[in-house]
Amino acid sequence: MLRGIAPSILAADFGRLADQVQTVLDAGAPVIHVDVMDGHFVPPITMGPLVVEALAQQVHDAGAKIDVHLMIERPERQVDAFAAAGADSITIHAEATPHAHYALQAVKEAGCLTGLALNPGTPAEAVAELAPDMVLCMTVNPGWGGQKFLEHSLSKLKRLRELIGPATALEVDGGIDAETAAKCAAAGATVFVAGTSVFGADDPGAAVKALQTAVNLDGAAVL
Ligand code: DX5
Ligand code: ZN
Repeated sequence: MLRGIAPSILAADFGRLADQVQTVLDAGAPVIHVDVMDGHFVPPITMGPLVVEALAQQVHDAGAKIDVHLMIERPERQVDAFAAAGADSITIHAEATPHAHYALQAVKEAGCLTGLALNPGTPAEAVAELAPDMVLCMTVNPGWGGQKFLEHSLSKLKRLRELIGPATALEVDGGIDAETAAKCAAAGATVFVAGTSVFGADDPGAAVKALQTAVNLDGAAVL
């Protein structure tokens, strides 16, 4: 099960991506979060399997995992490419395909942990029947970094934790800083994606450590 702080490289300086990733790995981040956007499911276009492939060895050598968040339509068509590039977990959006069950099965067959993401407007009950390894509760609307945390996410997290039980990872993504991370941890979250609050900080390594302290987790914590 994934657990811990997951810096999102969406907010990193891509001109020195390897250095930025090394800084957060050295600070003990156990997960690197990769935001894939297709210009359809969400307006921006970001990155694809080539970026995962470029980072895979560096991340795995540090004992950390690559967490791919697919904000793309029909994600089932891209699962194999991201798995081959080195993804350890692949999260698809419930809203992005009529075949969420099939898509999660494809992720599992490709040898990755399965993740199901829910937009802020999608009810917690959408996880029923799907039993992913991880549920990603979007705490902003997907598509952009730097947005404000949606406070109503906290009651949704509690409902999700009740629905999925204790053994499923619960990830939060969007507007996560030390303050909102602590609230999410109290509501049942176990994986904390943070872009701007890590890579927008003067010292990204110190920001990772501050988040670890805020959620009472330290060190590499991939179980
Ligand atoms: C948003 C992405 C996030 C994003 C979070 O659509 O899924 O992972 O990087 O960025 P911050 O931490 O800046 O809200
Ligand atoms: Zn994300």
